[in-house]
Amino acid sequence: MPSLPFQALRCPLDGSALTRRDMSWRCEAGHSYDVAREGYVHLLPVQNKRSKDPGDSKEMVAARRHFLSAGYYAPIAQALAETLRAHSHGPLSCLDAGCGEGYYLREVQSTGMSLSILGLDISKWAVQAAAKSDKSSTWVVGSNANLPVVSGTLDCVLCLFGFPVYAEFARVMKTDGLLIQVDTGEQHLRELREVIYPSLKPPREGEAPLPEGFSLIDERALCFNIVLESREAIADLLAMTPHLYRASQAGRENAAALERLSLSIDVRIRCLRRSFG
Ligand SMILES: C[S@@+](CC[C@H](N)C(=O)[O-])C[C@H]1O[C@@H](n2cnc3c(N)ncnc32)[C@H](O)[C@@H]1O
Repeated sequence: MPSLPFQALRCPLDGSALTRRDMSWRCEAGHSYDVAREGYVHLLPVQNKRSKDPGDSKEMVAARRHFLSAGYYAPIAQALAETLRAHSHGPLSCLDAGCGEGYYLREVQSTGMSLSILGLDISKWAVQAAAKSDKSSTWVVGSNANLPVVSGTLDCVLCLFGFPVYAEFARVMKTDGLLIQVDTGEQHLRELREVIYPSLKPPREGEAPLPEGFSLIDERALCFNIVLESREAIADLLAMTPHLYRASQAGRENAAALERLSLSIDVRIRCLRRSFG
Protein backbone atom coordinates (compact mmCIF):
# COMPACT_ATOMS: atom_id res chain seq x y z
CA MET A 1 0.00 0.00 0.00
CA PRO A 2 1.51 3.42 -0.93
CA SER A 3 2.15 5.68 2.06
CA LEU A 4 0.07 8.82 2.72
CA PRO A 5 1.79 12.21 2.19
CA PHE A 6 4.07 13.22 5.05
CA GLN A 7 3.24 16.79 6.10
CA ALA A 8 5.48 17.66 9.04
CA LEU A 9 8.93 18.55 7.72
CA ARG A 10 10.57 21.66 9.12
CA CYS A 11 13.40 23.83 7.94
CA PRO A 12 16.72 22.71 9.46
CA LEU A 13 17.93 26.34 9.49
CA ASP A 14 15.07 28.24 11.17
CA GLY A 15 12.63 25.53 12.33
CA SER A 16 9.61 26.82 10.38
CA ALA A 17 7.33 24.40 8.50
CA LEU A 18 8.34 23.28 5.01
CA THR A 19 5.86 22.99 2.18
CA ARG A 20 6.42 21.11 -1.04
CA ARG A 21 6.22 23.02 -4.31
CA ASP A 22 7.04 21.00 -7.42
CA MET A 23 10.54 19.64 -6.94
CA SER A 24 11.53 21.57 -3.80
CA TRP A 25 10.59 22.04 -0.15
CA ARG A 26 10.45 25.68 1.03
CA CYS A 27 9.96 27.53 4.29
CA GLU A 28 8.34 30.94 4.84
CA ALA A 29 11.73 32.62 5.12
CA GLY A 30 12.63 31.45 1.63
CA HIS A 31 15.05 28.60 2.43
CA SER A 32 14.62 26.08 -0.34
CA TYR A 33 15.68 22.43 -0.58
CA ASP A 34 15.63 20.62 -3.90
CA VAL A 35 14.26 17.13 -4.23
CA ALA A 36 16.98 14.98 -5.82
CA ARG A 37 16.33 12.95 -8.96
CA GLU A 38 15.93 9.80 -6.84
CA GLY A 39 13.18 11.51 -4.80
CA TYR A 40 14.86 12.41 -1.49
CA VAL A 41 15.71 15.77 0.07
CA HIS A 42 18.90 16.79 1.87
CA LEU A 43 18.07 18.53 5.18
CA LEU A 44 21.41 18.24 6.96
CA PRO A 45 23.09 21.66 7.06
CA VAL A 46 26.78 21.46 6.33
CA GLN A 47 27.60 22.99 9.75
CA ASN A 48 25.87 19.98 11.43
CA LYS A 49 27.97 17.44 9.55
CA ARG A 50 30.84 15.93 11.49
CA SER A 51 32.42 14.46 8.36
CA LYS A 52 32.17 14.94 4.62
CA ASP A 53 30.31 11.67 4.06
CA PRO A 54 28.65 10.81 7.40
CA GLY A 55 26.92 7.55 8.29
CA ASP A 56 27.09 4.25 6.44
CA SER A 57 29.22 4.13 3.30
CA LYS A 58 27.94 3.20 -0.14
CA GLU A 59 29.48 -0.27 0.28
CA MET A 60 27.82 -0.86 3.67
CA VAL A 61 24.46 0.21 2.26
CA ALA A 62 24.83 -2.14 -0.74
CA ALA A 63 25.81 -5.03 1.57
CA ARG A 64 22.82 -4.37 3.87
CA ARG A 65 20.41 -4.19 0.95
CA HIS A 66 21.74 -7.48 -0.41
CA PHE A 67 21.62 -9.23 2.95
CA LEU A 68 18.20 -7.97 4.06
CA SER A 69 16.56 -8.58 0.70
CA ALA A 70 17.45 -12.27 1.06
CA GLY A 71 14.95 -12.36 3.94
CA TYR A 72 17.27 -13.41 6.80
CA TYR A 73 15.78 -10.75 9.10
CA ALA A 74 12.16 -11.13 7.94
CA PRO A 75 11.08 -12.36 11.43
CA ILE A 76 12.35 -9.06 12.86
CA ALA A 77 10.34 -7.04 10.33
CA GLN A 78 7.28 -9.17 11.08
CA ALA A 79 7.66 -8.69 14.85
CA LEU A 80 8.08 -4.95 14.31
CA ALA A 81 4.85 -4.74 12.29
CA GLU A 82 3.01 -6.82 14.93
CA THR A 83 4.25 -4.53 17.70
CA LEU A 84 3.19 -1.43 15.80
CA ARG A 85 -0.25 -2.87 15.09
CA ALA A 86 -0.74 -4.05 18.68
CA HIS A 87 -0.05 -0.64 20.23
CA SER A 88 -1.52 1.83 17.74
CA HIS A 89 -4.60 2.43 15.64
CA GLY A 90 -5.76 4.54 12.69
CA PRO A 91 -3.52 6.19 10.11
CA LEU A 92 -0.10 6.77 11.66
CA SER A 93 2.55 9.36 10.93
CA CYS A 94 5.73 7.42 11.41
CA LEU A 95 9.45 8.28 11.36
CA ASP A 96 12.19 5.68 10.94
CA ALA A 97 15.15 7.45 12.53
CA GLY A 98 18.24 5.92 10.93
CA CYS A 99 16.23 4.07 8.28
CA GLY A 100 19.20 2.66 6.37
CA GLU A 101 18.16 1.54 2.90
CA GLY A 102 14.51 1.38 3.99
CA TYR A 103 14.00 -2.37 4.42
CA TYR A 104 11.87 -2.22 7.58
CA LEU A 105 9.62 0.58 6.33
CA ARG A 106 8.98 -1.31 3.09
CA GLU A 107 8.15 -4.45 5.03
CA VAL A 108 5.82 -2.68 7.50
CA GLN A 109 4.09 -0.90 4.62
CA SER A 110 3.56 -4.19 2.80
CA THR A 111 1.33 -5.38 5.68
CA GLY A 112 -1.31 -2.86 4.53
CA MET A 113 -1.17 -0.48 7.49
CA SER A 114 -2.24 3.10 6.78
CA LEU A 115 0.96 5.08 7.27
CA SER A 116 2.41 8.43 6.39
CA ILE A 117 6.11 7.71 6.34
CA LEU A 118 9.31 9.67 6.84
CA GLY A 119 12.55 7.74 6.45
CA LEU A 120 15.59 9.65 7.68
CA ASP A 121 19.25 8.72 7.73
CA ILE A 122 22.49 10.64 7.97
CA SER A 123 23.93 8.55 5.11
CA LYS A 124 23.15 9.96 1.70
CA TRP A 125 23.81 6.53 0.19
CA ALA A 126 21.25 4.87 2.43
CA VAL A 127 18.56 7.48 1.73
CA GLN A 128 19.26 7.39 -2.00
CA ALA A 129 18.80 3.61 -2.08
CA ALA A 130 15.62 3.83 0.02
CA ALA A 131 14.10 6.56 -2.16
CA LYS A 132 14.77 4.62 -5.36
CA SER A 133 12.74 1.69 -4.01
CA ASP A 134 9.74 3.57 -2.63
CA LYS A 135 8.37 6.64 -4.37
CA SER A 136 5.38 7.15 -2.05
CA SER A 137 7.24 7.82 1.24
CA THR A 138 9.26 10.92 2.15
CA TRP A 139 13.02 10.33 2.37
CA VAL A 140 15.40 12.75 4.03
CA VAL A 141 19.13 12.99 4.64
CA GLY A 142 19.26 14.36 8.17
CA SER A 143 20.41 13.67 11.70
CA ASN A 144 18.65 12.23 14.74
CA ALA A 145 20.45 14.96 16.69
CA ASN A 146 18.43 17.69 14.98
CA LEU A 147 15.37 16.17 13.33
CA PRO A 148 13.88 18.34 10.57
CA VAL A 149 10.39 17.57 11.89
CA VAL A 150 7.74 19.88 13.42
CA SER A 151 7.37 19.34 17.20
CA GLY A 152 4.52 17.17 18.52
CA THR A 153 3.43 15.76 15.16
CA LEU A 154 4.35 12.06 15.05
CA ASP A 155 2.40 9.02 16.22
CA CYS A 156 5.41 6.77 16.06
CA VAL A 157 9.20 6.79 15.90
CA LEU A 158 11.17 3.68 14.98
CA CYS A 159 14.83 3.33 15.89
CA LEU A 160 16.18 0.03 14.62
CA PHE A 161 19.79 -0.86 15.40
CA GLY A 162 20.29 2.90 15.40
CA PHE A 163 21.49 5.86 17.39
CA PRO A 164 18.63 7.18 19.54
CA VAL A 165 18.49 10.82 20.58
CA TYR A 166 15.62 10.60 23.06
CA ALA A 167 15.14 14.33 23.63
CA GLU A 168 14.65 14.84 19.89
CA PHE A 169 12.37 11.80 19.59
CA ALA A 170 10.26 13.16 22.48
CA ARG A 171 10.10 16.59 20.87
CA VAL A 172 8.68 15.37 17.56
CA MET A 173 6.21 12.87 19.05
CA LYS A 174 2.56 13.48 19.95
CA THR A 175 1.78 13.28 23.66
CA ASP A 176 0.85 9.59 23.49
CA GLY A 177 3.25 8.69 20.69
CA LEU A 178 5.06 5.35 20.48
CA LEU A 179 8.79 4.74 20.25
CA ILE A 180 9.77 1.28 19.05
CA GLN A 181 13.40 0.32 19.39
CA VAL A 182 15.12 -2.81 18.15
CA ASP A 183 18.59 -3.50 19.50
CA THR A 184 20.95 -6.43 19.63
CA GLY A 185 20.87 -8.89 22.53
CA GLU A 186 23.80 -10.74 24.09
CA GLN A 187 23.78 -13.73 21.75
CA HIS A 188 23.35 -11.73 18.55
CA LEU A 189 25.73 -12.99 15.84
CA ARG A 190 27.77 -14.75 18.55
CA GLU A 191 29.18 -17.33 16.09
CA LEU A 192 30.45 -14.59 13.76
CA ARG A 193 32.04 -12.72 16.67
CA GLU A 194 33.72 -15.95 17.83
CA VAL A 195 35.32 -16.28 14.39
CA ILE A 196 36.57 -12.70 14.05
CA TYR A 197 37.65 -11.80 17.61
CA PRO A 198 40.24 -13.59 19.79
CA SER A 199 37.80 -13.40 22.73
CA LEU A 200 34.29 -12.06 23.27
CA LYS A 201 33.54 -9.06 25.46
CA PRO A 202 31.64 -9.85 28.67
CA PRO A 203 27.92 -9.08 28.32
CA ARG A 204 26.59 -5.68 29.43
CA GLU A 205 25.32 -5.67 33.01
CA GLY A 206 21.68 -4.80 33.75
CA GLU A 207 18.80 -3.45 31.70
CA ALA A 208 19.05 -0.43 29.41
CA PRO A 209 17.86 2.58 31.48
CA LEU A 210 14.47 4.06 30.67
CA PRO A 211 14.89 7.40 28.87
CA GLU A 212 13.37 10.46 30.51
CA GLY A 213 9.88 11.31 29.22
CA PHE A 214 8.99 7.73 28.22
CA SER A 215 7.31 4.80 29.93
CA LEU A 216 7.88 1.16 29.01
CA ILE A 217 4.78 -0.57 27.68
CA ASP A 218 6.18 -3.71 26.09
CA GLU A 219 9.49 -5.50 25.80
CA ARG A 220 10.31 -8.81 24.22
CA ALA A 221 13.27 -10.85 23.05
CA LEU A 222 13.22 -12.38 19.60
CA CYS A 223 15.68 -15.24 19.06
CA PHE A 224 16.07 -17.48 16.04
CA ASN A 225 18.77 -19.08 13.91
CA ILE A 226 19.81 -18.44 10.35
CA VAL A 227 22.25 -20.29 8.11
CA LEU A 228 24.39 -18.39 5.60
CA GLU A 229 25.30 -20.77 2.80
CA SER A 230 27.77 -18.70 0.78
CA ARG A 231 30.91 -16.58 1.15
CA GLU A 232 28.98 -13.66 -0.35
CA ALA A 233 26.26 -13.75 2.29
CA ILE A 234 28.87 -13.92 5.08
CA ALA A 235 30.79 -11.02 3.51
CA ASP A 236 27.57 -8.96 3.22
CA LEU A 237 26.71 -9.53 6.86
CA LEU A 238 30.19 -8.55 8.00
CA ALA A 239 30.20 -5.47 5.76
CA MET A 240 26.88 -4.16 7.12
CA THR A 241 28.00 -4.28 10.75
CA PRO A 242 30.63 -2.28 12.69
CA HIS A 243 32.48 -5.60 13.14
CA LEU A 244 34.09 -5.07 9.72
CA TYR A 245 36.11 -2.15 11.12
CA ARG A 246 36.55 -3.50 14.64
CA ALA A 247 37.95 -6.88 13.58
CA SER A 248 41.65 -7.39 12.94
CA GLN A 249 42.97 -8.41 9.53
CA ALA A 250 43.29 -11.97 10.86
CA GLY A 251 39.68 -11.89 12.06
CA ARG A 252 38.44 -10.74 8.68
CA GLU A 253 40.47 -13.46 6.96
CA ASN A 254 38.93 -16.11 9.24
CA ALA A 255 35.47 -14.93 8.20
CA ALA A 256 36.42 -14.78 4.51
CA ALA A 257 37.54 -18.42 4.64
CA LEU A 258 34.08 -19.64 5.70
CA GLU A 259 31.64 -21.07 3.17
CA ARG A 260 28.81 -21.68 5.62
CA LEU A 261 27.89 -20.11 8.92
CA SER A 262 25.06 -20.92 11.29
CA LEU A 263 24.16 -17.89 13.40
CA SER A 264 22.13 -16.91 16.44
CA ILE A 265 19.92 -13.89 15.97
CA ASP A 266 19.00 -12.29 19.29
CA VAL A 267 17.25 -8.92 19.33
CA ARG A 268 15.26 -6.95 21.92
CA ILE A 269 12.14 -5.09 20.87
CA ARG A 270 11.26 -2.31 23.26
CA CYS A 271 8.07 -0.30 22.98
CA LEU A 272 7.92 2.99 24.89
CA ARG A 273 5.14 5.51 25.19
CA ARG A 274 5.78 9.24 25.39
CA SER A 275 4.77 10.30 28.89
CA PHE A 276 4.86 13.48 30.94
CA GLY A 277 5.61 14.12 34.60
C1 LIG B 1 23.15 -0.28 11.89
S1 LIG B 1 22.48 0.79 10.69
C2 LIG B 1 20.75 0.39 10.78
C3 LIG B 1 19.98 0.81 9.57
C4 LIG B 1 18.49 0.36 9.57
N1 LIG B 1 17.78 0.88 10.72
C5 LIG B 1 18.41 -1.14 9.53
O1 LIG B 1 18.27 -1.76 10.60
O2 LIG B 1 18.49 -1.70 8.42
C6 LIG B 1 22.55 2.39 11.47
C7 LIG B 1 22.12 3.52 10.56
O3 LIG B 1 22.14 4.74 11.31
C8 LIG B 1 22.62 5.76 10.47
N2 LIG B 1 23.08 6.87 11.35
C9 LIG B 1 24.24 7.00 12.03
N3 LIG B 1 24.24 8.14 12.76
C10 LIG B 1 23.04 8.75 12.53
C11 LIG B 1 22.45 9.97 12.98
N4 LIG B 1 23.08 10.78 13.82
N5 LIG B 1 21.23 10.30 12.54
C12 LIG B 1 20.56 9.49 11.66
N6 LIG B 1 21.08 8.31 11.20
C13 LIG B 1 22.29 7.95 11.63
C14 LIG B 1 23.68 5.09 9.63
O4 LIG B 1 23.97 5.80 8.44
C15 LIG B 1 23.02 3.74 9.37
O5 LIG B 1 22.24 3.75 8.19
